[in-house]
Amino acid sequence: MSSPDLPTPTQAPKKTATETSLRIGIVAETAEGETRVAGTPSTVAQLIKLGYAVTVQKGAGVASSYPDADYVSSGAEIGTRKGTWSADVVLTVGTPAAAELLLLASGATLVSWLSPGLNPSIVDTLAALPITALAVDAVPRISRAQSMDVLSSSANIAGYRAVVEAANSFGRFFTGQITAAGKVSPAKVLVAGTGVAGLAAIGAASSMGAIVRATDPRPEVAEQVSSIGGTYLPVVVAEQAEASTDGYAKVTSDAYNARAAEIYSEQAREVDIIITTANIPGRKAPILLTAADVASMKSGSVIVDLAAANGGNVEGTVAGKEIVTPNGVTIIGFTDLTRRLPAQASQMYGQNLVNLMKLLTPGKDGQLVLDHSDVVQRAITVVQNGEKLWPPPVVAVSAAPAAASAAPVEMVPKKVMSAVSKAVITGVGIAVLFAIIAIAPAPLPQHITVLVLAIVIGFYVIGKVHHALHTPLMSVTNAISGIVVVGAMLQLTIEDPATRILASVAVLLASINIFGGFAVSRRMLRMFSKD
Ligand code: NAI
Repeated sequence: MSSPDLPTPTQAPKKTATETSLRIGIVAETAEGETRVAGTPSTVAQLIKLGYAVTVQKGAGVASSYPDADYVSSGAEIGTRKGTWSADVVLTVGTPAAAELLLLASGATLVSWLSPGLNPSIVDTLAALPITALAVDAVPRISRAQSMDVLSSSANIAGYRAVVEAANSFGRFFTGQITAAGKVSPAKVLVAGTGVAGLAAIGAASSMGAIVRATDPRPEVAEQVSSIGGTYLPVVVAEQAEASTDGYAKVTSDAYNARAAEIYSEQAREVDIIITTANIPGRKAPILLTAADVASMKSGSVIVDLAAANGGNVEGTVAGKEIVTPNGVTIIGFTDLTRRLPAQASQMYGQNLVNLMKLLTPGKDGQLVLDHSDVVQRAITVVQNGEKLWPPPVVAVSAAPAAASAAPVEMVPKKVMSAVSKAVITGVGIAVLFAIIAIAPAPLPQHITVLVLAIVIGFYVIGKVHHALHTPLMSVTNAISGIVVVGAMLQLTIEDPATRILASVAVLLASINIFGGFAVSRRMLRMFSKD
């Protein structure tokens, strides 16, 4: 008899790194002010499950509150700087310095934030080395690649942190309150640009109780804005914005900019906080708020300009600094919002890398396989074994709704029954009903009359209830089946076996209806419970 502790021959042995497994190195970041790390104990455990051996450079996670001991508990070994950089696959957050790149082994794969589009010289530097370099920030914005999109993770964190920074500098509550010391009005927040960062900012500000408004040239975001508690302010102009082909916005028209400027001027006088996130990739950030708009804001108001590193959306922003204008408005231009939440940022970045490594490790055997027929893998490959592969072919995706057909769509009118047809059908229905009542034995006519009246009343009552409320209405009105239970129980006293069987089935079905209705109501109520 085999011991239950020993695996039977059909059980797969627990996956561990083997002699042939590649080794992943997670290095300590050296850029000034960098607090993040490319892997956390939890992401390291997932990399090991993929069949890799993992070495983490000593102290790499300390600035993001991940001590070496936690990495060891997850199965990693702690290595020296040189030892970690010499791994087969090296994961980093920031673009490595030239001296660090020289530590890479021949044939190694570097997985890093490389910005090859903004920094073309890095492509030549990498191509001079016998390595493969993958730019994680070049993952295309397509649904399939969302789990690897480090730009979205970073923007999400920055949007949230922008609200935290604004709340820290704002001398008042975000939420409205009625207290013994008087009434407090909720803060009014305007978010300009509702991409990933903007939506995160709207969610955070509205969850803190502020009144949140938002603008964006893409009208399709209106629903997303309202679903997280904001109000979309449309910028209505004659022509529509050009549809996006790469998931990002296009340059706005002069007419749009003129109308938007009016809205920003009106809002600047009224709101307490403005968070700007407007961005068009490959271009300088558009100016949304002029110096005059800032001067019109109330003293104590706060602006957080997320686009500061790219020129800023606000006249007067100083990248990396917090300044206070002569009229008492604080303008925050921090460019390190993600680094200000290092534990969260490292976890999300590390998870993006794990998801990427899953794609690159189809056999889950610790072997990295790069497949250029896959658009995601091709899009991120900057250099392969010293061969320059940047720029990749354009990946066409669209964040905009499907374009309307050029030909006008002919509207087919809904068929409406004429009054004569309605009268004929009603007349025939009544005649059939009377005929059945006339020939049916008592007490059937009485029951049929009650049934028909119930159908007519039910149709008109439920027809007037908004469809969103049908489920709660149904779940509660199911309790009316209690009448069926009582009636069927009375029938159970009759001797006839067929009647008893039918009555039992009726009791069973009606009970399911009652209890099921309450179970559905309970489930729905739980969806609204904060716990
Ligand atoms: P995104 O591309 O997802 O969103 C940008 C949004 O701006 C889009 O919805 C677009 O339609 C909108 N937009 C474009 N032109 C506009 C205009 N004239 N008026 C209003 N809206 C306009 O970008 P994402 O990922 O949300 O990032 C937003 C910004 O945050 C970027 O500039 C990014 O570099 C920055 N960022 C800043 C960080 C920091 O620490 N300060 C960290 C991470 C991101």
